[in-house]
Amino acid sequence: MNIPNHVGFILDGNGRWAQAQGLTRSEGHQAGFESLRKLSKYIFDKGVKVLSVYAFSTENFKRSKQEVDFLMNLFVKKFQEYGKDLNKENVKVVFSGIRKAPLPMEVIKIIGEVEALTINNTKGTLNICINYDGQWEIVDATKKIIADISEGKLKQEDINKELFNRYLYQELPPIDLLIRTSGENRLSGFMLWQASYAEFYFPSIHFPAFTEKDFDEALAIYNNRDRRFGGINEKKTNC
Ligand code: IPE
Ligand code: IPE
Ligand code: MG
Repeated sequence: MNIPNHVGFILDGNGRWAQAQGLTRSEGHQAGFESLRKLSKYIFDKGVKVLSVYAFSTENFKRSKQEVDFLMNLFVKKFQEYGKDLNKENVKVVFSGIRKAPLPMEVIKIIGEVEALTINNTKGTLNICINYDGQWEIVDATKKIIADISEGKLKQEDINKELFNRYLYQELPPIDLLIRTSGENRLSGFMLWQASYAEFYFPSIHFPAFTEKDFDEALAIYNNRDRRFGGINEKKTNC
């Protein structure tokens, strides 16, 4: 079994899952959070080194104040405990996204605390995308590069793909397998740079119902993909 080094996961369908169960959207988010806790442990135990999850996009601030407040409070209430669990599992936690208002100060504070607590861990890296948009990530990296050029720290001719990657919110390897639950076949701004050569998998199941078994299924599908990276698979071709 070939285990992907970096898995990207767009955690979608909490609302629809709740609706189908006759529950509120808030209960759907709560169930989604519990699902993430279980699944992240399983994914690192499988040998995945980096797991990036899309938890809240810049666009998600368009939702009702009630829903946004619920999600932010859920993070504040639950994340310190989850961070401690991840720390015990030797997982490093990093965050990607814009760290300023409208993201609440309390959320920004916890982000810093969890990153500091887990900074030396080595089993794997959990990258959590909050107040995140992949186009903004590229714009922000560009601004940092321009600032370094004008301060004389960097020369324009030294810019290449590897260098650009170091200026993103987090310096991460490329995504190998990208999963989006709930049957939507789109990225909604998720990790545009890192997903450049990812294998995509779009199961119809909603995120709170996605189990370890479903992840095994995703791995099996990934193992059947022919990743050519623009080349030719010599074993499968008659020249
Ligand atoms: C994903 O579930 C979680 C967040 C975007 C915060 P949704 O809330 O998007 O669930 P659906 O798509 O409405 O079912
Ligand atoms: C994408 O899901 C963002 C997250 C899962 C956090 P959305 O539910 O917000 O995306 P759209 O609106 O279906 O594109
Ligand atoms: Mg959605």
